[in-house]
Amino acid sequence: MKLPSASHCKGHIPWQGLLLTVSLLTFWIPPPTAQLPIESVPFNAAEGQDVLLLVHNMTENLQAYHWYKGQGVLKNQLIISHISKTQVNISGPAYSGREILFPNGSLLLQNVTLEDTGYYTLQTIDEIFSTDQASGQFHVYSELPKPSVTSNNSHTTE
Ligand SMILES: *[C@@H]1O[C@H](CO)[C@@H](O)[C@H](O)[C@H]1NC(C)=O
Ligand SMILES: *[C@@H]1O[C@H](CO)[C@@H](O)[C@H](O)[C@H]1NC(C)=O
Ligand SMILES: *[C@@H]1O[C@H](CO)[C@@H](O)[C@H](O)[C@H]1NC(C)=O
Ligand SMILES: *[C@@H]1O[C@H](CO)[C@@H](O)[C@H](O)[C@H]1NC(C)=O
Ligand SMILES: *[C@@H]1O[C@H](CO)[C@@H](O)[C@H](O)[C@H]1NC(C)=O
Repeated sequence: MKLPSASHCKGHIPWQGLLLTVSLLTFWIPPPTAQLPIESVPFNAAEGQDVLLLVHNMTENLQAYHWYKGQGVLKNQLIISHISKTQVNISGPAYSGREILFPNGSLLLQNVTLEDTGYYTLQTIDEIFSTDQASGQFHVYSELPKPSVTSNNSHTTE
């Protein structure tokens, strides 16, 4: 059996196929790194609060993992690295001294500042040197000075 238009279309990609290819390219999104969701607790933090970047489903038997500021894994944005074999933590250029790494991979940021707002990325390297990464973000808002309110029965002043 032979498809009727198959012979004279040889060598050409049918236009429907081209359109499909284009739309697939347009809407192609990198596969989600579903295994490593990062959750910020809290998502909205006041200046001076602590924020915990929680890692769910952290793979066991990792060679190492690295926390970066931002959405990528740029060397100059490295906060801290943990090397499992030696149990050593190496701080990077983006380390501020306010970060605490937990054995489960979660990172605690203490006393957050407005500049801490943004994305954080965790990169993991497993025993066969395959890497995985996930990002999470949080927002820091400035703590407004508490308005001093004196109230009397007659009137209220701010
Ligand atoms: C990781 O450890 C910290 C500190 O013990 C804890 O608060 C957090 O809930 C843990 N994260 C997960 C995903 O279990
Ligand atoms: C953790 O992984 C398990 C299976 O690998 C999956 O069923 C579960 O949904 C994952 N949890 C999260 C929070 O991604
Ligand atoms: C390094 O980080 C781990 C958590 O991954 C922690 O348990 C350990 O105490 C840290 N070591 C040092 C020397 O800070
Ligand atoms: C938090 O950081 C601010 C400056 O950013 C500093 O003045 C303050 O002492 C810090 N607080 C604590 C508890 O570390
Ligand atoms: C509130 O009332 C007290 C007396 O009851 C008075 O001394 C004070 O000045 C009042 N304050 C204001 C802001 O009105």
